[in-house]
Amino acid sequence: MRIAIVGAGHVGAVTGACLAEMGHSIVLVDRDERVRERLVRGEAPFFEPGLGAMIRGNLPRLETTADLATAVGNSRMTFLCVGTPSNRRGEADLSAVRAASAAIGEGLSGTSGPRTVVVKSTVPPGTTAEVVRPAVEAGSGRSAADGLSVVMNPEFLREGSAVRDFFLPDRIVIGADDPAGAEALEALYRPFSCPRVRCTTATAEMVKYASNAFLAVRVSCANEIGNLCKSLGIDAHEVLGAVVLDGRIGPRFLGAGLGFGGSCFPKDVRALVALAGSLGCGARLLSAALEVNDRQPAALLDLLEKRVGIAGRRIGVLGLAFKPGTDDVRESRAIPVVQGLLDRGARVVAHDPMAMEQFRQVHPGIEYAASAAEVVSGTDATVIVTEWPEFEGIDYSGRIVVDGRRCRRAEETAAVYEGICW
Ligand code: UDX
Repeated sequence: MRIAIVGAGHVGAVTGACLAEMGHSIVLVDRDERVRERLVRGEAPFFEPGLGAMIRGNLPRLETTADLATAVGNSRMTFLCVGTPSNRRGEADLSAVRAASAAIGEGLSGTSGPRTVVVKSTVPPGTTAEVVRPAVEAGSGRSAADGLSVVMNPEFLREGSAVRDFFLPDRIVIGADDPAGAEALEALYRPFSCPRVRCTTATAEMVKYASNAFLAVRVSCANEIGNLCKSLGIDAHEVLGAVVLDGRIGPRFLGAGLGFGGSCFPKDVRALVALAGSLGCGARLLSAALEVNDRQPAALLDLLEKRVGIAGRRIGVLGLAFKPGTDDVRESRAIPVVQGLLDRGARVVAHDPMAMEQFRQVHPGIEYAASAAEVVSGTDATVIVTEWPEFEGIDYSGRIVVDGRRCRRAEETAAVYEGICW
């Protein structure tokens, strides 16, 4: 099937390359010339394991363009994969969604036959039905009556494992308000063997937010327990290691430490809190999850202050990406940690295996070291912010380490070691 992907970011580029791998003919639409140039060269626009190979392996079926209208007009399906970042009030900013929806509508103007527009962007419940569909119908002059469907199919892609997550999802959520739209998505995902959830578009939109909110609450629950354990001299990981053995709780996403970052958890939880506020429902647990998360970097720096003092010191920072396996620094915990160090009068020397170029755009004024070993040996103390496997291969003997992510080698070899929740 010919499919247009509007927005070749972390969701669109992965979705397009994987659909091409499935044999579909894909047109990737992106207004950023640099993104298009990399895609045309068979390169991923950002680091994502396996994505470059997936693109190169399917180049004959992967067209790249800035011409949204033509791409959409010639495609049976169009996926809307543009960003919905937080605005100042924490709400999801829908400006890109509105603009793309209007452009998709124009692209479908004058077309005939069954066409399906699929919202994959994370959008507040009601957006597909109340924002996207009206704009697409108005722009195209078409509707469900003549074969135009606008449906919602949330993604659950994790950075660093997005290609795997595309082909091995835990479930596929099909949000449709008309049978033809649902059927088009069912047909597309026929080869998948995982459970399907058929629901309305609003339900599908909420499933996405609820999933991320629940995971974020788990992390903050682990950190609240972790902070309590720290005050009591108890090892939180030992406690939580026994807690997760309960079949009802499960082993993942209860890792106490510096908290969550990334382009999704903070944004999606903030959007839900803002939505609840606008509806007068309140979202005390979700608000608290954000507060606990915001507190962790200061807790780490307070430990450092206690152990070595910060003002006038050279402090090493190991890890800048929001998690290992990515070069993405969006909402990384390293941002408040570095800012806090600078505010407290430290000079900062940082290293990250992949994210230094990205981080330099956020903090151009700090030093960047070529290796983790250089950071550890050349500073008064080191904080560990991202749990890169490389950091388990460093000799920390004789050094002072304050750890936000549980580097066992540091715990075993450092002269002075403090863990944020252990
Ligand atoms: C997340 C969701 O997992 C994914 O389903 C959704 O589609 C997009 O958002 P991602 O943001 O890529 O994926 O990262 P994820 O692996 O979920 O980790 C999010 C953050 O939580 C990271 O900063 C990570 O360090 C932190 N985290 C995770 C913890 O602090 N403790 C944990 O136990 C797990």
